[in-house]
Amino acid sequence: MVPKGETLFEAGEYRVRRVSEEDVQLIHGLGERCLEHLELHYGSPPDPGQMIRELLSDLPPGKALGDKFGMGVFDRAGRLVGGIDVIRDCPEPREWYLGLLVLDPDHRNQGLGAKLLAALTQWLRRQDAAYLRLAVSEHNAAGQRFWTRSGFQPVKQVLAEFGNKKSVFHVMRRALETR
Ligand SMILES: CC(C)(COP(=O)(O)OP(=O)(O)OC[C@H]1O[C@@H](n2cnc3c(N)ncnc32)[C@H](O)[C@@H]1OP(=O)(O)O)[C@@H](O)C(=O)NCCC(=O)NCCS
Repeated sequence: MVPKGETLFEAGEYRVRRVSEEDVQLIHGLGERCLEHLELHYGSPPDPGQMIRELLSDLPPGKALGDKFGMGVFDRAGRLVGGIDVIRDCPEPREWYLGLLVLDPDHRNQGLGAKLLAALTQWLRRQDAAYLRLAVSEHNAAGQRFWTRSGFQPVKQVLAEFGNKKSVFHVMRRALETR
């Protein structure tokens, strides 16, 4: 068990640790700054509280909270500038599912996402993960570019409904040993 508040990994000047109920105000603030992202997935009106659920409680069927790693990305001043959520062994043993990677809009398009993904990948290898899987919305062209550039390959497409929005999601995955 990782002690509470312990840094899991770092990316440049940013540190990543698990978030908890004590961080709900910070996470809500991040949700308010990422309304366009929430709207893209869940429809209108966007609810910043969804960011809290994504990082603290949302689980795929059959998984338990012990398999969920909701993480916050903190800058040097302790501001929450991003969120990451990964689920262990989902859908297969040693294949982890990335439910969320989101940055505050002020921190996008500067290479931070790529640095965080590299650091997350190293951390996942230390957890004995072999693959990372994710699903990116058909409406998220920038996200699709990011994952393709990061070496993820298409697995299948699925139709899914979140909130009041139905979208096609591109399921992608990447082997972690090869990079
Ligand atoms: C997806 C996300 C995590 C990527 O993180 P990021 O830090 O913005 O990613 P990068 O900076 O590595 O790349 C984003 C773009 O910035 C460009 N970029 C990177 N460094 C740059 C720099 N120093 N100067 C100018 N542009 C730069 C990249 O080329 C890329 O361009 P593209 O949009 O034409 O493909 C982030 O944009 C985000 O939070 N988006 C909203 C949430 C989301 O969609 N998450 C994924 C859901 S599946």
